[in-house]
This record gives sequence, C-alpha cells and structure tokens, in this order.
Amino acid sequence: MSQSLASVAYIGATILFILSLGGLSNPESSRRGNLYGMIGMTIAVLATVLGPRVTAAGIPWIIGAMLAGGGVGLYAARTVQMTQMPELVALMHSLVGLAAMLVGFATYIDPAVSSQYTGAAKAIHEMEIYAGILIGAVTFSGSVIAFGKLSGKIGGKPLLLPARHWLNLAGLLIVIYFGREFLRAESMSDGMKPLIVMTVIALLFGIHMVMAIGGADMPVVVSMLNSYSGWAAAATGFMLSNDLLIVVGALVGSSGAILSYIMCNAMNRNFISVIAGGFGTGGGTAAAAHSSDGQPAGEVVPVNALETAELLRDAKSVIIVPGYGMAVAQAQHTVNDITRHLRGKGVNVRFGIHPVAGRMPGHMNVLLAEAKVPYDIVMEMDEINEDFPDTDVAMVIGANDIVNPAAQEDPASPIAGMPVLEVWKAKTSIVMKRSMASGYAGVDNPLFYKDNNRMLFGDAKKMLDEVLAALKA
Ligand code: TAP
Repeated sequence: MSQSLASVAYIGATILFILSLGGLSNPESSRRGNLYGMIGMTIAVLATVLGPRVTAAGIPWIIGAMLAGGGVGLYAARTVQMTQMPELVALMHSLVGLAAMLVGFATYIDPAVSSQYTGAAKAIHEMEIYAGILIGAVTFSGSVIAFGKLSGKIGGKPLLLPARHWLNLAGLLIVIYFGREFLRAESMSDGMKPLIVMTVIALLFGIHMVMAIGGADMPVVVSMLNSYSGWAAAATGFMLSNDLLIVVGALVGSSGAILSYIMCNAMNRNFISVIAGGFGTGGGTAAAAHSSDGQPAGEVVPVNALETAELLRDAKSVIIVPGYGMAVAQAQHTVNDITRHLRGKGVNVRFGIHPVAGRMPGHMNVLLAEAKVPYDIVMEMDEINEDFPDTDVAMVIGANDIVNPAAQEDPASPIAGMPVLEVWKAKTSIVMKRSMASGYAGVDNPLFYKDNNRMLFGDAKKMLDEVLAALKA
C-alpha cells in the first residue's frame, strides 16, 4: 500500500473514531458508535500493517503478536464480569503505558531511527522520547496500582506518606534535571543513564500517586488514567511519526480529561484535591446515623416483599434508583419486568441515574439497556432530583453512597458536598440491600433510619422476584 493510500485510510479511520465518540454519548446511538469504532480500528490496523513502513519480514511477527493479543483480549472480554470492567479497563491502560515506554526505549536505541535526526530535529525527537517514556511510565505503574485497588488485591485505604507533596515536587525537579542531562548527552550510552533514572522516578510517582487516592475517588482516577493513556499513545505517535496515533491519542486523552472533569463535578470534588489524594481516610466523623456511643441513632423499619408490593401497587408515581447491588445481583431483568407491570397498571415509573452509580461510568445505563428498559424513562440525576417530593415511592435497589443524605446534611462526612439523589424526599423510600453494611465510600447512611424509609433486606434479584410474584398475585 502506498503512503498516500495509507494516509487516506488514516483520515477515514480518524473520522470514524470521531463519529464513534459522538455515538457513545447516548445509549440509543452507542451500538452504532461501537460499530464505527470497530470499523475505524480495522482500517487503521490494515493500513498500518499493509503500509509502506512494514517490511515483508515483519509481517509474520505482527500476525503472531496480533493472534496472541487478540486471543487474550477475546478471552478477557468473554470471561470478565460486568462488575470487573473497571479493573479490566485499568489493566488495559497499563498496557498502553507499557507500550509507550517500550517504544520510547526502542526508538532511542534503534540506530536506523536516531541517524535520521540531526540538530534541532534531533533535540525535538529526544524530547518526544523523554516525554513519551515519562507519561508511559506514570500511566503504566499508576494503572497497575489502580487495577490492584479496584480488584481488592491492594487495600482501598489511601497511603499517605509524610511530606508526600514534597516528595512529588522533588521527583518533578529530578525529572527536569535529568531531562536536561538527557538532551545534552553526546552518545546513546550517555543518554541511557538519565533516561533510566527518569523512568524509575516516573514509575514510583505513578505508584505513589494512585496509592494516595482512596475510596470513592477511584472512578475519577480510572478516567484520569484513561486520559493519560491517550496522551501516552499520542506521544508514541510522535516518536513513530504516526499521524493516526497522534490524533487518536489526543481524542482519548482529551475525552478522558473531560470525563474526569464531569465525574469530579458529579462527586463535588475538586480535580486537584483528587490528585492530591487522601480522600476516604475515614478521618471525618461518622454520619449522623450514629450516636456518640457508636450505636445507631434510630430504628430501621424492615418490610417484606408483600408489603413492598403493596406500597408499589398503591403508588401513582415511582422512581427507581439502581446502584452497584443491582449489578451484583443481576436484577436488571426483574426490574424491567416490575417496571412493565406497574406501567401496565398506569403507574408513572421512572429511573434516577447517578453519574457514579455502580463501578464505572454508564454502568446502570448499560444494564438497563440490556434489560430493554425504555430510554425515555431513564433520567439523569439533575433531571429527576426535584421530582422526589411529588413521588409516592422511591425504590433504591442496591445503592448506598449515591442516596446518602449525609452528603448534604453532615459537613463532617467524608462525602460532604457530593451530589446525591434525594430519595428521602419521596413520600416513602424503600432501600433494598442485604444488610446494614456501608457502600463503596465506607460511610454510614442516615437514610436507613428516616421515618419514611423502609428496608427490604435480601439479595436484590431474589427480593424483586418475590415482589413481582406478589404484584402479579
Ligand atoms: P455503593 O455505595 O457501593 O452501595 C452498593 C450497595 O449494594 C451496598 O451497600 C451493598 O449493601 C448492596 N449490595 C451489594 N450486593 C447486593 C445484592 N446482591 N443485592 C442487594 N444489594 C446488594 O454503590 P452505589 O450507591 O451505586 O454508589 C457507587 C459508589 O461506587 C460511589 O461511592 C462511587 O463513587 C463508587 N465508584 C463508582 C464508580 C463509577 S465510575 N460508577 C467506580 C468506582 C467506584 P449490602 O452489602 O448490605 O447488600
């Protein structure tokens, strides 16, 4: 394939990637968006493999690598549970970071590449290598730690070293100093030392950065690492002079940054304070639900499936708030059956979706779409929050942090200021979960003790099956 044909293919792939991102912004167009992405990636891979820069001798290596990588990817995609998706994503980001690091070193030591550059072009090329390895190393080690934390292999509590901000600053200064040494190096062996020192510091920085982040800030970190992986890919594109990698890397980098910003807003967290870490240390006082002697301040009112069905049958309007527990129980299909049944009886049923419900962005939307819940009754938190006072029943299914009134009522709560779905303002709220255990952020929930709240204890799928049977009886 000639260079000009490869360039045309790259432009086509770029357009498809932009259309793909546009499609993914809405559940209705997301399948189409995925399809555009897959076609774009196929074109990109074919144009690269058949392009002028790959020699015939390299083809078997590429095919071997694609078969191995594709096999692992296929296996992971088929076996991974929906609830394990964030850790899989973190692991994939780590591979992008690792690739950027390896490409950086390979480009530096390859005499065929380095001999192409002299003077200012050489300096720019070396800066690309230095920045590419730096971003790649931070992305790699940060993502491995994020994977460890999300999968529970590493404790979720933030590790706060004394003077950690000074440590980070010292690391930054060393990286700048060795960057200067790297650019001044006369030979490849001279340049290797500063490059390796910087790589070690960047790896340690990535570990330190994510270890310091705890509890409910992890989703923002995953999307931030997504952004870093994009910039690492863009840096790889610069090193390899590959326009498509630069464009795609920039698309991923900027969309990841925008997503991080949206998630920070959704959790009322300042981006800088997320990066600075420390959230979720348990340093705040317990939520108002507990009195000073550690005992619950009030009583909870348990209900059974029959009573829940009664409440739903008598309601004119119902808002369902799904959370992580619905995903664990795989209760979405029963939720849809109950929704259809109630709508059939003239009840106005809608869904309230918190931006960080579950364990990944869009987690609830994906599950509800899979169960074929109509899109037009699935509302964002901002669209539905003011409707709770006019709602008869708010049914919380396996959600906890996202409906915690302490976020509004207790300034000392670790989640103070996080926007939440105000389910307690409905005439009656019903919380469906297995026990009194706290949610992801590890904080108590005073909602459970409110006078108008009822608790339906049990696995969400099992309890909803019983509620559906009672409704149909
Ligand atoms: P959580 O606050 O984690 O609460 C989920 C609740 O579901 C738990 O309290 C648990 O209580 C219950 N549960 C678990 N399995 C269940 C089952 N089989 N049946 C019934 N209930 C079950 O979830 P949330 O309200 O969705 O909030 C999400 C949290 O995760 C936020 O803190 C958010 O910041 C964080 N987070 C979000 C993301 C993204 S991007 N969405 C990523 C990582 C972390 P029991 O054990 O008593 O049943």
